[in-house]
Amino acid sequence: MKEKLERLEQEALKALEAADNPQEVQLLRVRYVGRKGAVTQCLRSISTLPPAERPLAGKLANEVKTRLEAAFKDSIEAFDTGRKRPDGALDVTLPGRPLAGGRLHPITQITQAICEIFLRLGFEIVEGPDVELDYYNFEALNIPKDHPARDMQDTFYVSENIVLRTHTSPIQVRVMERQSPPVRIIAPGKAYRVDSDVSHTPMFHQVEGLMVAENISMGDLKGVLTIFVHQMFDEETSLRFRPSFFPFTEPSAEVDIRCVICRGKGCRVCSHTGWLEVLGAGMVHPAVFEMVGYDTGRYTGFAFGMGIERIAMLKYGIDDIRKFYENNIRFLEQF
Ligand code: PHE
Repeated sequence: MKEKLERLEQEALKALEAADNPQEVQLLRVRYVGRKGAVTQCLRSISTLPPAERPLAGKLANEVKTRLEAAFKDSIEAFDTGRKRPDGALDVTLPGRPLAGGRLHPITQITQAICEIFLRLGFEIVEGPDVELDYYNFEALNIPKDHPARDMQDTFYVSENIVLRTHTSPIQVRVMERQSPPVRIIAPGKAYRVDSDVSHTPMFHQVEGLMVAENISMGDLKGVLTIFVHQMFDEETSLRFRPSFFPFTEPSAEVDIRCVICRGKGCRVCSHTGWLEVLGAGMVHPAVFEMVGYDTGRYTGFAFGMGIERIAMLKYGIDDIRKFYENNIRFLEQF
């Protein structure tokens, strides 16, 4: 009897431990200590033992029954209070596993910030094809066949008359071809050049700007760009227009901003000049207006083109343009 009771208790406790839901525990309870349960039956059979053995066996059987009943009760309670959980159940109290959140690429973020500023100034956003006709990329922009900018070293040629656009300026021409003045657009997009080092990638981004109407002057260009720089960086960032040359603008200027890193004192980023070149600009060349059939006697306009990576690098303090395109998550996660 003693061995049997001990064996039953061990067996019941082991089964209880393996039980992974309260229903299972309930079944075990019935099987061992229910009215027809194994332990209960042992208790009943005590009357068949020789009288001398009865007291001890009775005591033992009662103890086992009490212990098992307590264990079953405790187990059911554990499931009820969530201390023990059904197998595979969700513990809603556990802290969640962090999901790697997606985000916009820093270049996309800066492009959007640039566009927002110009949208507030009344500019419209347009786009054009990355794979472009030679005509739009060069010819219509007053860049003749023998111009050095067309050099095989700079331009990705798809065929003799088709290129990967080397700047976003062809979009100017496409817009003017289909729309008469007034025109006030910006055109963000990719550009391609055969070039690769710390400040050049074969694919990069530009935002083109174009405003054409009666009486548009260099003053309007300066005003718009000043507002842009003040909103993109801050009000303290001053601008400088340096005479330059582009075949499609006359006069042309290179626009510098006060170094946002050293504030003009001179540092490595600005090559100790205190200034940073951020964009090219100028008044639209009459030859370009003629190509699209605009009345050069009536309309004038300005255009500009800026490198988005350049703006992003200055804004975020990044010293190598290639980092944008290495797809290193730990780099990209910072923006
Ligand atoms: N397209 C020129 C470049 O890529 C920039 C520019 C645009 C200059 C418009 C003047 C006017 O360098």
